[in-house]
Amino acid sequence: TLKWNIQDDGKYNSQAINQAAALLKQGQTVAFPTETVYGLGADATNPEAVSKIFEAKGRPQDNPLIAHVATMEQLIKLVDNIPPYVKTLIDTFSPGPITYVLPSNGTCAANVTAGLPTIGVRIPDHPVAQALLRKCDIPIAAPSANISGKPSPTTAYHVFEDLQGKIAGILDGGATGVGVESTVIDCTEAIPTILRPGGITVEQLQAVVGDVNVDPALVSSTERPKAPGMKYRHYSPEVPLWLVQGTALEIQQVIEREQRNGARIAVLASAGTAKLLHTEEIFILGDNINDIATHLYDALRKYKSSDVDLIVCEAFQEFGIGQAVMNRLKKAASKYLVN
Ligand code: TXA
Ligand code: MG
Repeated sequence: TLKWNIQDDGKYNSQAINQAAALLKQGQTVAFPTETVYGLGADATNPEAVSKIFEAKGRPQDNPLIAHVATMEQLIKLVDNIPPYVKTLIDTFSPGPITYVLPSNGTCAANVTAGLPTIGVRIPDHPVAQALLRKCDIPIAAPSANISGKPSPTTAYHVFEDLQGKIAGILDGGATGVGVESTVIDCTEAIPTILRPGGITVEQLQAVVGDVNVDPALVSSTERPKAPGMKYRHYSPEVPLWLVQGTALEIQQVIEREQRNGARIAVLASAGTAKLLHTEEIFILGDNINDIATHLYDALRKYKSSDVDLIVCEAFQEFGIGQAVMNRLKKAASKYLVN
């Protein structure tokens, strides 16, 4: 696996982009940073290239990939029947952390969409992703660049840990900003439906297009999710994680009870809550929910079972990007304690 440091000399390294683009056009897989998480890219029009993504990640074959493009003009070339509200959403939020599910016109290979008639398309807002997509001038299929089931990668090192030796290259553009994946929104009906909460919040979407539905599976565990990927357990840390909703005192009581049982504990908490806790190992995720989203996956990847028996994580308010954070934490957790 080649590794290019895109920030060499603090400036933009166009040679690295050119090499990465050349590999992608030859049908190889290359990881690159986006504003959400790192993606593992391949030529979306080449089924053999796309199958290398599934193989490297160990990804279930029924889980479709997102096609990434640099511009709205390129996006329009991949889909049919774009409702007027999608134009408004694109004008407002793209490039950015949002993926539109629309009827595919068949330009992308069938394995990108896992055989579905629809395709997820996204215009990422990251200078490296933009430069790479413009250089390639082909749609790039890219799921998060992690082994399936593990937390998504927010640094090139995370990608390296998971996929070293299995992919052609990694463009290292430093840590990503948003920290959780894009919002996936089904745009095949008169009213859009959120299939996966992400970087663009439901409140932001409602402010622009009014009515927005939410996939019932996001609120009830008995419903079958409309995004195939949402049914899988995801984001699993190496160490069991308990998500605890309650006051700092209630979280402290859980920590002390488990410590008395002999468990070595790491705590993930906001800066405000961390100040009120008394325990040795605390990972401060941030002092607001956006910072918490940014640092969440790094925290989930940090603790190894050789050092820690249990991660105790504070539960956050499901408002704004807190919805995406809590969606991921509920999937990562082996237990959700509600006080
Ligand atoms: O922020 C992101 O979206 C990142 C970066 C790399 O762009 N990508 C990402 O991809 O998170 P992935 O493959 O890890 O997640 C894609 C999600 C899955 O839950 C998948 O099932 C859903 O989007 N999806 C993709 N195409 C779909 C379609 N046609 N219909 C319904 N769901 C779809
Ligand atoms: Mg993923």
